[in-house]
Amino acid sequence: MTRDPIRIAPSILSADFANFGAEIRAIEAQGADWVHVDVMDNHFVPNLTFGPQLCKAIRPHIRTVMDVHLMIAPVDASLQAYADAGADIITAHYEAGPHIHRTLQAIRGLGKKAGLAINPGTPASVVAPLLDSVDLVCVMTVNPGFGGQKFIDMTDRIRAIRALIGDRPVLIEVDGGVTADTAPLVAAAGADVLVAGSAVFSGGSVDDPGVYGRNIAAIRAAAEAAR
Ligand code: DX5
Ligand code: ZN
Repeated sequence: MTRDPIRIAPSILSADFANFGAEIRAIEAQGADWVHVDVMDNHFVPNLTFGPQLCKAIRPHIRTVMDVHLMIAPVDASLQAYADAGADIITAHYEAGPHIHRTLQAIRGLGKKAGLAINPGTPASVVAPLLDSVDLVCVMTVNPGFGGQKFIDMTDRIRAIRALIGDRPVLIEVDGGVTADTAPLVAAAGADVLVAGSAVFSGGSVDDPGVYGRNIAAIRAAAEAAR
């Protein structure tokens, strides 16, 4: 099977929160394939970021794909708001509630691509009954809540999920601790989309965006070489 090139999705959790529009334009100009938006509720995860109004405000600055990662519980009542805010992909956590199938159906019912995220403590097998209801599986390689955490090796789980997916049109996204050093591991295991926050934004700024470009290129090159 021919596989599409690796996609790099910088997480704006590591951007300058006072300057999202310019940060998004900078990472896209520097080669970002998607823009990953980490929504945290201080309940499902121990951190609070932003909600649908912020997503709506930044949407006009995104020309690629708005990839919204909901780390919130409960999640169902908020889906409409993130759809209205312009998300292209809405990802919910398996661990966020008892009715994940309903959540995924609701996302697709809103006309959006549906993503299913699993925490490092969740086995790969839980995705099996859901694979016809998703467009993307997000394998967390940190416990969600913060940028800049240490990568947890989930390569066995990525391989297992890749095998379960078979020839379905479902992407595997890997999120957490992805750098030019860890990208080869997850790319070799079957990742299609790499989320990277600190590894993209560190050392750069909107006034020095070439650093973002070099960081993205380094992650991409390391991943592609390992596939
Ligand atoms: C973690 C978030 C990640 C995070 C990644 O809860 O879901 O998207 O921003 O940041 P890094 O790449 O710094 O681990
Ligand atoms: Zn994320």
